[in-house]
Amino acid sequence: MRAIEVNKLTKVYQVGLGKQKVTALNDLSLTVERGSIFGLLGPNGAGKTTLIKILLGITFPTLGGARILDSDLSNYMIKKKIGFLPENHKFPNYLTAEQTLKYFAQLSGYENSNLNKRIDELLALVRMSKWKKTKVKKYSKGMMQRLGLAQAMINEPELIFLDEPTDGVDPIGRKEIRDILSDLKEKGTTIFLNSHLLSEVELVSDKVAILNEGKLLREGTVKELTTSDEVYEIETAADIPNIFSIPEFSSISISQEANKLIVNVKDNDELNFVIDYLRKNKINIKSVNMQKNSLEELFVSLIKDSRGEK
Ligand SMILES: Nc1ncnc2c1ncn2[C@@H]1O[C@H](COP(=O)(O)OP(=O)(O)OP(=O)(O)O)[C@@H](O)[C@H]1O
Ligand SMILES: [Mg+2]
Repeated sequence: MRAIEVNKLTKVYQVGLGKQKVTALNDLSLTVERGSIFGLLGPNGAGKTTLIKILLGITFPTLGGARILDSDLSNYMIKKKIGFLPENHKFPNYLTAEQTLKYFAQLSGYENSNLNKRIDELLALVRMSKWKKTKVKKYSKGMMQRLGLAQAMINEPELIFLDEPTDGVDPIGRKEIRDILSDLKEKGTTIFLNSHLLSEVELVSDKVAILNEGKLLREGTVKELTTSDEVYEIETAADIPNIFSIPEFSSISISQEANKLIVNVKDNDELNFVIDYLRKNKINIKSVNMQKNSLEELFVSLIKDSRGEK
């Protein structure tokens, strides 16, 4: 079942009395499965916030369409089931955390006879209990972000949009936010995450998409996007004698530098064949690691390619 289906979406903004046009989204299609965490990555101006705004009905597509929770975008009742943490959000600074959450509960039409209990639970979850009665104007950026996250969860949403949720949050706070997101997912909530922080997205997302200039460059699981062919690095205790000349290795692509072998194998058997050979020759193996392109490397190379840079 799908939580979000985006179908050939194009958004053109008209800037400056309609003279200049900016294409923020260009024929974009993607799907997000229910109960998953989806990470949308892209450089500044890629169109990430525009996509969220269209899905929430804050702005409208120029062409194409989308469905959320099996419903048309025009069905505003569906918004009761949605939570949203906007980018650079601002809460009225004269409200306390408790008042802010009550205010947003009312705005979202959330009905719960035990709202006070729900607010206490949420504040505990985002580690803000002791600031419950403190006005928002005294909060640090990280505290604002935590309150923003609680606000996005107040109506027990089935689908939650988070635009840069860890912006301004320190590494410990980020880890806590990641844990909260994993807990939400466990409970079946679908999470749509916009972020520049690639390593973070890598850690929590089931699926990621890379967007640039309104176009989808790549989509898949983090594993699909970051694992190259079966390339392993074998590190040995001492330098390895030259093994390229051995006929059995002719089909395996190997490069060697001092005490490291980089082997490109087609399957596990080939990898074990290389390891058996090394062990038979009394070569002491220190480690065998699958080589991974980090999401960051992939991101940088895709964006550079799409801009025609090397
Ligand atoms: N209301 C608007 N009017 C005109 N142009 C806009 C408007 N909103 C966004 N844009 C333009 O659309 C493009 C996409 O912007 P968007 O805010 O969606 O990018 P983003 O990926 O969220 O960027 P960031 O990472 O900086 O938040 C940019 O070129 C931006 O200048
Ligand atoms: Mg944005």
